[in-house]
Amino acid sequence: MDDEEGRKYLAHYMIEAWRRRGGDSFMPATIRRESFSESPEITFHTANGDFRFGFGKTPFNTADADLLISDKWRMFQTLGNTLPLPFTERVAKRDVRGEAEIAAGIVAKTQDPGHPFSFPLIVKPSEGSLSRHVYIARDEQELVHALRENRSDTSYGDGVLIQQFLGDEQGLFTEMRAICLDGRTQIAFDRTTDQDIPAGVLTDPAQWPGVRLRENLDIAVLAQIDVIAEYLYENYGVSYVTFDMKRDRAGRVWIVEGNVAAMGLDVMERDLMNGRRIVPGLADKMLDKVVATGLTPEKEPANASRGAEPEFS
Ligand SMILES: Nc1ncnc2c1ncn2[C@@H]1O[C@H](COP(=O)(O)OP(=O)(O)O)[C@@H](O)[C@H]1O
Ligand SMILES: [Mg+2]
Repeated sequence: MDDEEGRKYLAHYMIEAWRRRGGDSFMPATIRRESFSESPEITFHTANGDFRFGFGKTPFNTADADLLISDKWRMFQTLGNTLPLPFTERVAKRDVRGEAEIAAGIVAKTQDPGHPFSFPLIVKPSEGSLSRHVYIARDEQELVHALRENRSDTSYGDGVLIQQFLGDEQGLFTEMRAICLDGRTQIAFDRTTDQDIPAGVLTDPAQWPGVRLRENLDIAVLAQIDVIAEYLYENYGVSYVTFDMKRDRAGRVWIVEGNVAAMGLDVMERDLMNGRRIVPGLADKMLDKVVATGLTPEKEPANASRGAEPEFS
């Protein structure tokens, strides 16, 4: 991994933050590069013990918290009644039924006025896929196709999700992203373009032509994200999370998904107007946490026992 590649990762910014403070005289950091691993480990040697995490991983969450966020189906099952998540159902990739039969069952639900499903629907893998196999299905035929494509690939989890579409007749709702730490929104921005989005990349905002990142400082928006982040932090020990979100025309914020191995910090640093200040600023805060607590990812955050426990059985 060269330096350019490394800039995507949070760990890179934490090493920089550590260097800004005088480097190894204060807290030595070592990076161990496993030859076959794409995600080298970094260790900060603190007075309170070693703090170790993978470059591509979040440094602060519990393993349960990571799983809750990374598994989109678990997240909906656990939080669907509490947080603004689009209604979701799951079929196993190995479901014995064929795509036509599964699709027919879903179509029947779209015709039931009491069911939240209506076309278009989102079909996507149950785990993060960098937008691969994320489809907008407008009718039964597209649904069959999307199900087939998802089921033919065993990567990205063992389920296929069918999900309420966060958009309307006028098109997609506004794409947003937010980074949260310890229950507070740190950075939130809109991802927009003035150009027409080709059909093939509607669900891949990184590929939108002329896409722009604009920091969102609207207090009504930030307050909604804070509520979500605080709830996850207090009840499930989710310390660090990046949300892909949508904002509807009434200004309501929806969670599309959460990421605990957030990438793209290099893009935020480069493309946000204040990116060169706020991205390193976030890294500073995280380094403060490492220094203050010497917390290792295996240890429970101090607040993890507060509130309800996640039901993972
Ligand atoms: N329910 C949905 N409604 C509208 N757009 C969606 C929905 N789910 C996903 N998308 C679009 O697809 C993109 C990728 O989906 P996401 O769940 O973030 O998958 P990935 O883990 O691959 O990033 C989102 O950023 C969003 O633009
Ligand atoms: Mg995403």
